[in-house]
Amino acid sequence: MDIKSKINTKNTPKHVAVIMDGNGRWAKKKGMARVFGHKNGVKAVRETIEAAAEINIKVLTLYAFSTENWNRPKKEIDVLMSLLVTSLKDELKRLQKNNIKLECIGNIDNLPKKAHKELLEVVEKTKDNTHLTLILALSYGSREEIVNAIKKISKKVVNKELLTEEIDEKIINNHLYTFTLPDVDFLIRTSGEQRISNFLLWQIAYAELYFTNTLWPDFRKEHFFEAILDYQNRERRFGKTSEQLQDRNEQTEK
Ligand code: FPP
Repeated sequence: MDIKSKINTKNTPKHVAVIMDGNGRWAKKKGMARVFGHKNGVKAVRETIEAAAEINIKVLTLYAFSTENWNRPKKEIDVLMSLLVTSLKDELKRLQKNNIKLECIGNIDNLPKKAHKELLEVVEKTKDNTHLTLILALSYGSREEIVNAIKKISKKVVNKELLTEEIDEKIINNHLYTFTLPDVDFLIRTSGEQRISNFLLWQIAYAELYFTNTLWPDFRKEHFFEAILDYQNRERRFGKTSEQLQDRNEQTEK
C-alpha cells in the first residue's frame, strides 16, 4: 500500500508549518557551493506544496527567509532573492491551476524591490483561491512579530481604544501577522536540527513537532506524507488527560 493512501484525510492537520533546513549541508556533501543547495531546494518546495494540497491541508507555512538570514553573505542573499523571484514567476500558473492562494508574513518591506513587487503581484492574482493557503515567511522573525503586536496594542491603550484589562490571548493573536490563520497544528523541521529558530513562537503553543534527518533538497512528497502519518498516530491532549479525551470521543460517538 502506498504511503499516501494510509493517511486519514478527515484528520489531517489544518495548519502545517515547515522549517526548510539543510540546503547548505546538502551542497557541501556534493562538494558544491551553498547556493547549489538553495537551487535544489526549490523542487522540495514544489513537492511539499503539492503534497499538502493533495491531502486537503488548509494552510501551509514555509520558513523561506528569517530576519537573521540577512546576516548571511550578500552573494547568498542575492541568490535566494532571485530564486524567489523566478520561482514566483514559474509557479503562478500552477498556483492558479491548483486553486492555491499565496500570502506572506514578515517584514517584506525589507525585500529587494523586484522580489517585493513580484510577491505582491502573485498575492493579488491568487487572492480568491480557496483550496490551500500557502504562506511564505520572508524576512520573518517571531520575536519581532510579537514586539510589533505589543506596540500596536500599546498605541490602542494610549489612544483609549482599548483597556489594559481587555488584553487577552485573542487580542494578541489579532495583532500578529497570522491574525487570519488557525494555530499551527504540526511543525516539521528537516536536516536533523531540533530547534525552533524564532519561527511562529506564539502560534506553535500546542503544535506537534516533527524532526527528520532528511536534508531539505531531498525532501519529497513521501517524506511529507510520512510526517503526516506520524502526526495522525499521536494523541493531542491540549493539557487534558487521556481519559478526558476518551470520554469526549465516546460522547461525540453516541
Ligand atoms: C535553509 O538551509 C534554507 C534556507 C535559509 C532558505 C530556504 C530557501 C529555499 C528552499 C529556496 C527557494 C525558496 C522559495 C520559497 C522559492 P541552510 O542554508 O540554512 O542550510 P544549512 O543549515 O545546511 O547551512
